[in-house]
Amino acid sequence: MRRRQFITPLARPNSGWPQDVRVQHSDWVHLIVTLSGMAYMLSSPSALSQELSQGTEAASEQQLYNNACRTCHTIKEGDNRLGPTLYKIIGRKAGSLPDYNYSSAMKGAGFIWDEEKLEHFIANPDEVMPGNNMKPYGGLASTDDRTKVIAFLRSVTTGRP
Ligand code: HEC
Repeated sequence: MRRRQFITPLARPNSGWPQDVRVQHSDWVHLIVTLSGMAYMLSSPSALSQELSQGTEAASEQQLYNNACRTCHTIKEGDNRLGPTLYKIIGRKAGSLPDYNYSSAMKGAGFIWDEEKLEHFIANPDEVMPGNNMKPYGGLASTDDRTKVIAFLRSVTTGRP
């Protein structure tokens, strides 16, 4: 209860400074205990730091997706832009969204997107599927970058890292 009273005014953007400093003594104690706890966790090579590095990795995967794909794609269901949505792309049949106007190459591809197909496609779309309409897209040359983009799409598809 106490804790909540302390946090609420800080979180409210309009609350002024005077209100914030009217913190009761026990709240300070609480704060100090919390902060030293955090400092301890940050300084120890514990599960927390592992979590942090996983977080950083997920962020860099998303960053790559943002740079390479987001100009034309979203990951939201039903949200087609220049390219079709990549929502649940892994396990989806190629060219299968009813409300997107695919090239005939994509429409007739007849396979299901798995990680391997995606990896080849985003390396060089024309090589995998001549006549596709994913343009202008230069291809992702770095294997590492491709792996990251696919990891991001997988995490979106399955909710798993
Ligand atoms: C310049 C815009 C553009 C960029 C950038 C782009 N795409 Fe596409 N993408 C498209 C278009 C347009 C299509 C439809 C192609 C067709 O119909 O032949 C498409 C199709 C796809 C498909 C097939 C979807 C389906 O429903 O079968 C996948 C998978 C895909 N893109 C993945 C990616 C990934 C991953 C990236 C980033 C690495 C990316 N695309 C970057 C425009 C783009």
